[in-house]
Amino acid sequence: MDIDITTIKKRLSQTLSPHRYQHSLGTAAEAEKLAKHWQIDSQKAYLAGLLHDCAKNKSTDEMLRLALLHNIPVDEWTKEHTDILHGPVAAAMLEEEWGINDNEIADAIRTHTVPEEDMSDLAKIIYLADKIEPNRKPWQGIEKIRALAYRNLDQAIEAMLQNTMGFLAKRSDEVHPFTEEIWQIYRNKIKEQE
Ligand SMILES: [Fe+2]
Ligand SMILES: [Fe+2]
Repeated sequence: MDIDITTIKKRLSQTLSPHRYQHSLGTAAEAEKLAKHWQIDSQKAYLAGLLHDCAKNKSTDEMLRLALLHNIPVDEWTKEHTDILHGPVAAAMLEEEWGINDNEIADAIRTHTVPEEDMSDLAKIIYLADKIEPNRKPWQGIEKIRALAYRNLDQAIEAMLQNTMGFLAKRSDEVHPFTEEIWQIYRNKIKEQE
């Protein structure tokens, strides 16, 4: 891959709010660190972290339009919570908008909003780096999950999903209906590892 990071950063800083851009830099740095720790391609991790939120600035209508255009499944819950589409939409447009043709990076970006059963280590790292990067306002449980991310990726995802259900469940229907199912799957994975 012939990627010009400087140009990507410049464009990204013009696309996203300053706050979101700082979060993207933090996610990239955390993803790079995690990738080195888990001995996977740290350049790919940096790039995926940098671009994971590149579709975050799109309006509700635009997000729905792009999802339909790229054949992304949109269920009833998602229609009311279109922000969750910023992962899949970004992944679908990665090549045409950012010139990056890499399925592993695209998959990692796609699943950072709703994790899936089968995820690569890169995808797990991006999901976690997004939540624990140093620019994030501290939330309850962040230190535990940050530590777990460097100890066991599946355990960290399981704990993160449980956490999400806990604090989002208080805000009525904010949790995607699949979340609990995925959480159960990761719970089982961990049990099998024990
Ligand atoms: Fe995101
Ligand atoms: Fe993010």
